[in-house]
Amino acid sequence: MKILTKNFGNEQAKEIATYEKLGGYQALRKAVRLKPAQIIDEVKAGSLRGRGGAGFPAGVKWGFLPKDAETIYLVVNADEGEPGTFKDRWLMYWDPHRLIEGCCIAAYACRSHNVYIYIRGELFKEAAILEKAVDEAYRRGMLGNSMVGSGWAMDMAVHRGAGAYICGEETSLLNSIEGLRGYPRLKPPFPAIKGVFGKPTIVNNVETLMSVPAIIELGGDAYAKLGVEGEGGQRCIAISGHVKNPGVYEIPCGKSLKAIIDDDAGGMRSPDKPIKGVIPGGSSMPVLLAHEIDVPYSVDGLGKSEKIGEVEISPGKKFIWAGGTLRSSPGSGAIVVMEEGTDMVAVCARLMRFYAHESCGQCTPCREGSGWLAKICTRLAEGQGRPGDLQRLERAAAQIGGNTICALGDAVTWPMLGFLTKFRDEFEARLAESTYVDEGTP
Ligand SMILES: Cc1cc2nc3c(=O)[nH]c(=O)nc-3n(C[C@H](O)[C@H](O)[C@H](O)COP(=O)(O)O)c2cc1C
Ligand code: SF4
Repeated sequence: MKILTKNFGNEQAKEIATYEKLGGYQALRKAVRLKPAQIIDEVKAGSLRGRGGAGFPAGVKWGFLPKDAETIYLVVNADEGEPGTFKDRWLMYWDPHRLIEGCCIAAYACRSHNVYIYIRGELFKEAAILEKAVDEAYRRGMLGNSMVGSGWAMDMAVHRGAGAYICGEETSLLNSIEGLRGYPRLKPPFPAIKGVFGKPTIVNNVETLMSVPAIIELGGDAYAKLGVEGEGGQRCIAISGHVKNPGVYEIPCGKSLKAIIDDDAGGMRSPDKPIKGVIPGGSSMPVLLAHEIDVPYSVDGLGKSEKIGEVEISPGKKFIWAGGTLRSSPGSGAIVVMEEGTDMVAVCARLMRFYAHESCGQCTPCREGSGWLAKICTRLAEGQGRPGDLQRLERAAAQIGGNTICALGDAVTWPMLGFLTKFRDEFEARLAESTYVDEGTP
């Protein structure tokens, strides 16, 4: 069944008249006849988990809003900067009105009259499409003083970012909307209590909100059954790398990762080069080995992937993450498939340079640590590794994760430890081949 990708390939569906002819805005008309709390109950029953990265249940998040709040904001996270991730871009390009409809239902459920869509600066085409769709929705009475004639006022604005990965982190995104520098804020307070302009705010990913109309149409229980226990419905994944058919596909939550690669993406591009590694959920997520991919593509399924060993930071002191294990996750829904022959040290170095460049610099472990990881990985990849570099990488990575204001610190730690642990032989071989000569400190 196609829900999110139903209108892919249909240029006309971007226009409100066609979108309505295809059944669009019916879920919104149904939703405004329900009480906000009933919508939240349906979304909870649908087991909709956030598609932005952390997989937090959407209905539960909406339930955190203070009951007595007068002004509440809904903010759509359309920043999509995670390497490998491009599903929100396609969703907004093909179906802007589904996003507007999902936002209207979610905002009404959250007792909000104000929606901001914060879109990544580089997505010029998609921002223009959204702006046009929002104008159309105002003219057609979907937005404005009385949303679909319900008497509920609803305003929506598209806000363009300026191309900083860190502005995808929800609190720096809120600062950016306020015109401040995109620095993440310390949590708590969480945005649901104190968000944009100091008011309670729900931040949700594009795809999370685009899933809401289907929950209202089908009912929460029926929607939940499309997926697996604890993770209902369907989701979009962006698949790239050495597969035959890279692209965006809609899958039932919990489909096997191996089946996604073999069936949806058509398998590997060269039959003589099997899978070497798979990044399952955007570049922040630990890489998987070929034998680990026959697992359900879900938070629980990938959470059971092979444990990565503990890292000793200093004698007797170990890096403990989530109970001492480091496992993977579907994260932002981006699958990057790498074939035999891929230089994993070079891939890891490239990712580390990305994170070092995007660190906002507020926290010392992230600012300094990501720079060191990038520098050491790059010299290893270039055949200039130095004795002790692998231990340096481990210790530096382990001291970033969990010690920073925002999760970018973890986002640099997890892939580093993932690559280093799972492809240790390759890192060791690269070090052994190093031509670095220590000429002493002058
Ligand atoms: C460094 C960083 C970048 C992020 N980038 C995005 C992003 O581009 N899009 C997104 O939806 N979430 C992103 N997130 C996650 C958001 O902080 C937030 O959890 C998400 O928007 C919540 O939406 P959801 O509950 O619907 O998943 C990022 C988080 C971090 C730490
Ligand atoms: S963890 Fe990194 S990106 Fe996040 S606030 Fe600290 S320095 Fe900035």
